[in-house]
Amino acid sequence: MDKKIEELLEKKAKAQLGGGESKIKAQHDKGKLTARERIELLVDEGSFEEIDIFVKHRAVDFGLDKQHYPGDGVVTGFAKIDGRPIALFSQDFTVFGGSLSEAHAEKIVKVMNMAMKVGIPVIGLNDSGGARIQEGVSSLGGYADIFLLNTLASGVIPQISVILGPCAGGAVYSPAITDFVFMAKNTSYMFVTGPNVVKTVTHEDVSFEDLGGAETHAMKSGVAHFIYDNEIETLLNVRKLLSYVPLNFMDKSPIKKFDKSLVKNQEELNSIVPDNPNKPYNMKEIISLLVDDNEFLEVHSNYAENIIVGFARVGGMAVGIVANQPEVLAGVLDINASVKGARFVRFCDAFNIPLLVLVDVPGFLPGTEQEWNGIIRHGAKLLFAFCEATVPKVTVITRKAYGGAYDVMNSKHIRGDFNFAWPSAEIAVMGPKGAVEIIFKKEISSAKDPEKELEKKLTSYVEKFANPYIAAERGYIDDVIVPAETKIKLINAFEMLKNKVDKNPKKKHDNIPL
Ligand code: HXC
Repeated sequence: MDKKIEELLEKKAKAQLGGGESKIKAQHDKGKLTARERIELLVDEGSFEEIDIFVKHRAVDFGLDKQHYPGDGVVTGFAKIDGRPIALFSQDFTVFGGSLSEAHAEKIVKVMNMAMKVGIPVIGLNDSGGARIQEGVSSLGGYADIFLLNTLASGVIPQISVILGPCAGGAVYSPAITDFVFMAKNTSYMFVTGPNVVKTVTHEDVSFEDLGGAETHAMKSGVAHFIYDNEIETLLNVRKLLSYVPLNFMDKSPIKKFDKSLVKNQEELNSIVPDNPNKPYNMKEIISLLVDDNEFLEVHSNYAENIIVGFARVGGMAVGIVANQPEVLAGVLDINASVKGARFVRFCDAFNIPLLVLVDVPGFLPGTEQEWNGIIRHGAKLLFAFCEATVPKVTVITRKAYGGAYDVMNSKHIRGDFNFAWPSAEIAVMGPKGAVEIIFKKEISSAKDPEKELEKKLTSYVEKFANPYIAAERGYIDDVIVPAETKIKLINAFEMLKNKVDKNPKKKHDNIPL
């Protein structure tokens, strides 16, 4: 028996080396970690239980029958993060460039299926040259099996993709279906076709980094939700994200201990919004004051910065925050902001994460560029997402809430549970100047002094509409609150809503305007 155990341990030790010492060195020389080193950084120490370490590919063409590496280029198994279970796969670039064979795909499918059965998140660490070219269509089939499972698992368990190397061809579509994409700067790439094909087809000269690097996807395409300077920071932030997220759609986010009696009035909040309604301010200052320990994990921080989305805790309870950012484009809703907001709201709703919505929005962005590219269709996504969300939903209007954007940003009318406004709130169909120029057009143009008449009408409009009280009189606003007291109001609201149950009508699935 001892000999057999020895043999087993030898086999396992060999498998640990993946493609071998020289390939590991090459990986390190590129500034990348190995598949196993990454797992060590990601999960709780000693918690990783590997499966399928002995799996081999079954290909025979192109000399593959003579090249076998136990595990076949992907390390799979189960582990814990902060004591909570997860499933994972980590592609091993040292074995055939981490390329995906039929057997490699089967290993991923196996952990995904198990994760769905037991209701735990799946984290995929991607570092792969794509379909294993020598296996042809079997490899394509393997990808399709993964795409299908990604889709079936969507909304059942959280799925997180971490891109830590090349990710090319159809291979990008698995991460794209998952809930969050992390990338590390300078070593990870995602594109449908690489720079060489781009050059042939469109004659563009573009580098790997510019075409599909982390910054490109964080700022331009919005494909990456989180990017960090290196792999270590990237992996540690995956752990952070998971601390806000439930294990599955029937679970709730972990609650942290919180002593409510320590919450004090925050006088700073009374003076953040400038008296001049046209002056910008930074909504992130408000967020930072309202959340526990000033900790806010922002999602898509470099994309469509006119809307802010991310996770935090309020009174120990995890919440998803959606907020307009008056400092960027006056917080207007445009196509990218709408899509960014909608996807985030739907994730939170799918996984029982309550929503906190901070509103200072002048409306939707006008112009041909936006109209021709479909602001109607895309803006409708955000509206749809808020309308269908049944999680606890709390809104605070800090300043402007104009027009359709007032309705969209989790208004009472679309099932906001608690809708608060600060005294600085202005809730109306449109901003004062535009409104007065339309409704008093004739009176202004026929007045002896049109400028003076415009001023007069503006003053009366502002007095009448640029405040929260008309909405509060109708019950569209539940309370107008002193900004300094917002934090305690929020904690009380989310506590009250803890066991909220709301349902949408029975259907096969909805038809969000994609
Ligand atoms: C088999 C592969 C491979 C692949 C890389 N390798 N990609 N083997 N199938 N797809 C092997 C290489 O032969 C090499 O083996 C080792 O991995 C390391 O690769 P290098 O090229 O030396 O590394 P590097 O210079 O870092 O370049 C990495 C790379 C490049 C950018 C990923 O290898 C590359 O362009 N590969 C092909 C990418 C690709 O076109 N894939 C198919 C996409 S289509 P040795 O033994 O020499 O060390 C696709 C379809 C999916 O994926 C469709 C789903 C619907």
